[in-house]
Amino acid sequence: MNDAPILITGGAGFIGSNLADALLARGYAVRVLDNLSTGKHANLQLEHPRLSLIEGDVADAAVVRQALQGCQAVVHLAAVASVQASVDDPVGTHQSNLVGTLNLCEAMREQGVRRVVFASSAAVYGNNGEGEAIDEDTPKAPLTPYAADKLASEYYLDFYRRQHGLEPAIFRFFNIFGPRQDPSSPYSGVISIFTERAQKGLPISVFGDGEQTRDFVYVGDLVEVLVQALEAETLEAGAVNLGLSRATSLNQLLGAIGDVLGGLPEVSHLPARAGDIRHSRANNARLLARFAFPEPTGMREGLAKLLGRS
Ligand code: NAD
Ligand code: UD1
Repeated sequence: MNDAPILITGGAGFIGSNLADALLARGYAVRVLDNLSTGKHANLQLEHPRLSLIEGDVADAAVVRQALQGCQAVVHLAAVASVQASVDDPVGTHQSNLVGTLNLCEAMREQGVRRVVFASSAAVYGNNGEGEAIDEDTPKAPLTPYAADKLASEYYLDFYRRQHGLEPAIFRFFNIFGPRQDPSSPYSGVISIFTERAQKGLPISVFGDGEQTRDFVYVGDLVEVLVQALEAETLEAGAVNLGLSRATSLNQLLGAIGDVLGGLPEVSHLPARAGDIRHSRANNARLLARFAFPEPTGMREGLAKLLGRS
């Protein structure tokens, strides 16, 4: 470790602020670049002497250049994280989700900063791999502007690796959950929606029969891997699935939330969402081969932490 800061783009958001806390606890200096579109001041330890915040947009090349000055490495999380928002506004989203990545690559090349950890998404697989664990060679099928920009960002990062010596660590996140995930949109992560409604005693809607499954990862476990990717001596090329290879159905999830809270509000079933994936589960052999994945936080334990019951 040296004293130069780690730049976290999107560091005021859900995952970024959890990562910022973890890096500060390990003694790092952290610089956050965030336009606060969904991120919040309240997510950050703004009074911490080793944390600084630059309010600005990754779509602005000059801002990115300035934010990178003197940094040792980058974790690039800034993006419009809502798939629905990318469908509603593909052009605006593209500025954040692809142009932002390119601006960062260029600034890194200019300044000789090599290491960058990037948040891609399981969305790059689209509906492929349904029913089986998805490995990284599964054909890509980006079905939305969000997924197209993530996959294109992966390709640009790989170009800068081959051409300019960048050291990208590309992770395809599966369904991440934990404290500070924003439940306010209908398209927010299901765990943030269900837990918020359960705490407030509001009725819960399940789309479909509740037997669809997801590979949920607690944000604290994700952050451990991101830190390892920052600290690794060397990195192999190629994106890595970040999932537990563990399927949890929504019905199991609701059972666990009920256990942690001692009961559930009314649960009703609505028609399944159009295009909803039935089963999504990572084959995480590459993750386990390349990184020392921590003993995963169990669903109940993760929910207890999220709900302040641990
Ligand atoms: P989030 O919305 O909480 O975080 C995104 C952050 O980026 C916010 O703080 C936002 O203000 C900032 N931001 C957005 N556009 C920006 C711009 N143009 N310039 C500067 N800052 C900008 O979402 P999150 O869940 O923490 O997601 C973090 C990253 O992980 C995103 O890249 C997202 O696509 C990716 N990801 C998340 C999940 C998940 O399950 N949460 C799954 C797959 C991928
Ligand atoms: C996730 C991503 C999405 C990506 C997709 C494919 C999030 C928030 N979404 O969607 O961006 O395109 O993976 O990789 O990470 N549900 C309910 N009730 C609710 C909300 C959701 O029953 O109130 C259901 C959904 O229909 C779905 C499941 O819960 O079956 C999970 O939904 P969600 O958290 O939105 O994630 P994905 O659909 O996996």
